[in-house]
Amino acid sequence: MPPTTVADPIAELVADRERARASTDPFTDLCILATADAAGAVSVRTIVLRDVGPQGVGLLISATSPKWGPLTAGRAECLLVWLSIRRQYRVRGRLESMPEARVAEYWRQ
Ligand SMILES: Cc1cc2nc3c(=O)[nH]c(=O)nc-3n(C[C@H](O)[C@H](O)[C@H](O)COP(=O)(O)O)c2cc1C
Repeated sequence: MPPTTVADPIAELVADRERARASTDPFTDLCILATADAAGAVSVRTIVLRDVGPQGVGLLISATSPKWGPLTAGRAECLLVWLSIRRQYRVRGRLESMPEARVAEYWRQ
Protein backbone atom coordinates (compact mmCIF):
# COMPACT_ATOMS: atom_id res chain seq x y z
CA MET A 1 0.00 0.00 0.00
CA PRO A 2 1.45 3.46 -0.82
CA PRO A 3 2.10 5.83 2.11
CA THR A 4 -0.79 8.16 2.92
CA THR A 5 -0.36 11.90 3.37
CA VAL A 6 -2.13 13.34 6.42
CA ALA A 7 -2.49 16.93 7.60
CA ASP A 8 -0.91 16.42 11.03
CA PRO A 9 1.06 13.16 11.15
CA ILE A 10 2.28 13.70 14.72
CA ALA A 11 -1.29 14.18 16.01
CA GLU A 12 -2.30 11.03 14.17
CA LEU A 13 0.67 9.14 15.59
CA VAL A 14 -0.21 10.25 19.15
CA ALA A 15 -3.84 9.21 18.68
CA ASP A 16 -2.85 5.86 17.17
CA ARG A 17 -0.47 5.17 20.05
CA GLU A 18 -3.34 5.72 22.47
CA ARG A 19 -5.49 3.32 20.44
CA ALA A 20 -2.68 0.75 20.45
CA ARG A 21 -2.29 1.17 24.22
CA ALA A 22 -6.00 0.62 24.67
CA SER A 23 -5.58 -2.61 22.68
CA THR A 24 -2.75 -3.56 25.08
CA ASP A 25 -0.29 -3.65 22.21
CA PRO A 26 3.05 -4.77 23.68
CA PHE A 27 5.15 -2.36 21.61
CA THR A 28 3.73 1.07 22.43
CA ASP A 29 6.79 1.95 24.52
CA LEU A 30 9.40 0.72 22.05
CA CYS A 31 10.67 1.61 18.60
CA ILE A 32 13.27 0.30 16.19
CA LEU A 33 15.99 2.80 15.34
CA ALA A 34 17.94 2.28 12.12
CA THR A 35 21.10 4.22 11.31
CA ALA A 36 23.64 4.12 8.52
CA ASP A 37 27.30 4.96 8.98
CA ALA A 38 29.28 7.10 6.55
CA ALA A 39 30.13 4.00 4.48
CA GLY A 40 26.46 3.03 4.27
CA ALA A 41 26.57 0.14 6.75
CA VAL A 42 23.17 -0.12 8.40
CA SER A 43 22.51 -0.90 12.08
CA VAL A 44 19.17 -1.39 13.80
CA ARG A 45 18.29 -1.67 17.46
CA THR A 46 15.43 -1.45 19.94
CA ILE A 47 15.01 1.82 21.83
CA VAL A 48 12.50 2.88 24.47
CA LEU A 49 10.06 5.54 23.32
CA ARG A 50 10.36 8.10 26.09
CA ASP A 51 8.03 10.81 24.83
CA VAL A 52 5.59 10.96 21.98
CA GLY A 53 3.76 14.24 21.61
CA PRO A 54 3.42 17.46 19.63
CA GLN A 55 7.17 18.01 20.05
CA GLY A 56 7.87 14.74 18.23
CA VAL A 57 9.42 11.49 19.36
CA GLY A 58 11.73 11.56 22.39
CA LEU A 59 14.51 8.98 22.74
CA LEU A 60 17.35 8.76 25.25
CA ILE A 61 20.58 8.10 23.37
CA SER A 62 24.11 8.35 24.71
CA ALA A 63 26.24 10.83 22.79
CA THR A 64 29.14 8.38 23.15
CA SER A 65 27.30 5.52 21.41
CA PRO A 66 28.11 4.51 17.81
CA LYS A 67 24.63 5.56 16.67
CA TRP A 68 25.11 9.17 17.75
CA GLY A 69 27.17 10.23 14.72
CA PRO A 70 24.73 8.83 12.13
CA LEU A 71 21.81 10.27 14.10
CA THR A 72 23.22 13.78 14.14
CA ALA A 73 24.12 13.46 10.45
CA GLY A 74 20.49 12.63 9.64
CA ARG A 75 21.24 9.08 8.54
CA ALA A 76 18.54 7.54 10.69
CA GLU A 77 14.95 6.40 10.70
CA CYS A 78 12.78 5.29 13.56
CA LEU A 79 10.07 2.66 13.14
CA LEU A 80 7.04 2.53 15.42
CA VAL A 81 4.88 -0.53 14.78
CA TRP A 82 1.54 -1.37 16.40
CA LEU A 83 0.19 -4.57 15.00
CA SER A 84 -2.92 -4.48 17.19
CA ILE A 85 -4.20 -1.55 15.12
CA ARG A 86 -2.36 -2.49 11.91
CA ARG A 87 -0.28 0.65 11.80
CA GLN A 88 3.36 1.52 11.41
CA TYR A 89 5.08 4.93 11.41
CA ARG A 90 8.45 5.68 9.90
CA VAL A 91 9.89 8.76 11.57
CA ARG A 92 12.63 10.97 10.17
CA GLY A 93 13.38 14.56 10.95
CA ARG A 94 15.30 17.21 12.78
CA LEU A 95 17.17 16.20 15.93
CA GLU A 96 16.89 18.33 19.07
CA SER A 97 18.30 17.86 22.53
CA MET A 98 15.81 17.00 25.25
CA PRO A 99 15.67 19.63 28.03
CA GLU A 100 18.25 18.87 30.74
CA ALA A 101 15.53 18.68 33.40
CA ARG A 102 13.75 15.97 31.44
CA VAL A 103 16.93 13.92 31.06
CA ALA A 104 17.66 14.32 34.78
CA GLU A 105 14.11 13.11 35.54
CA TYR A 106 14.69 9.96 33.49
CA TRP A 107 17.95 9.28 35.30
CA ARG A 108 16.13 9.71 38.64
CA GLN A 109 13.57 7.10 37.49
C1 LIG B 1 13.84 -3.32 25.27
C2 LIG B 1 15.10 -2.51 24.97
C3 LIG B 1 15.10 -1.14 25.18
C4 LIG B 1 16.25 -0.37 24.93
N1 LIG B 1 16.21 0.99 25.11
C5 LIG B 1 17.32 1.73 24.84
C6 LIG B 1 17.29 3.15 24.98
O1 LIG B 1 16.28 3.76 25.37
N2 LIG B 1 18.40 3.86 24.64
C7 LIG B 1 19.54 3.23 24.20
O2 LIG B 1 20.53 3.95 23.90
N3 LIG B 1 19.61 1.89 24.07
C8 LIG B 1 18.52 1.11 24.37
N4 LIG B 1 18.56 -0.25 24.24
C9 LIG B 1 19.83 -0.86 23.80
C10 LIG B 1 19.93 -0.75 22.29
O3 LIG B 1 19.03 -1.65 21.66
C11 LIG B 1 21.37 -1.03 21.80
O4 LIG B 1 21.73 -2.35 22.12
C12 LIG B 1 22.39 -0.09 22.44
O5 LIG B 1 21.88 1.24 22.45
C13 LIG B 1 23.73 -0.11 21.67
O6 LIG B 1 23.51 0.22 20.33
P1 LIG B 1 24.66 0.79 19.36
O7 LIG B 1 25.87 -0.08 19.61
O8 LIG B 1 24.14 0.64 17.98
O9 LIG B 1 24.90 2.21 19.77
C14 LIG B 1 17.42 -1.02 24.47
C15 LIG B 1 17.41 -2.41 24.26
C16 LIG B 1 16.26 -3.14 24.50
C17 LIG B 1 16.28 -4.63 24.24
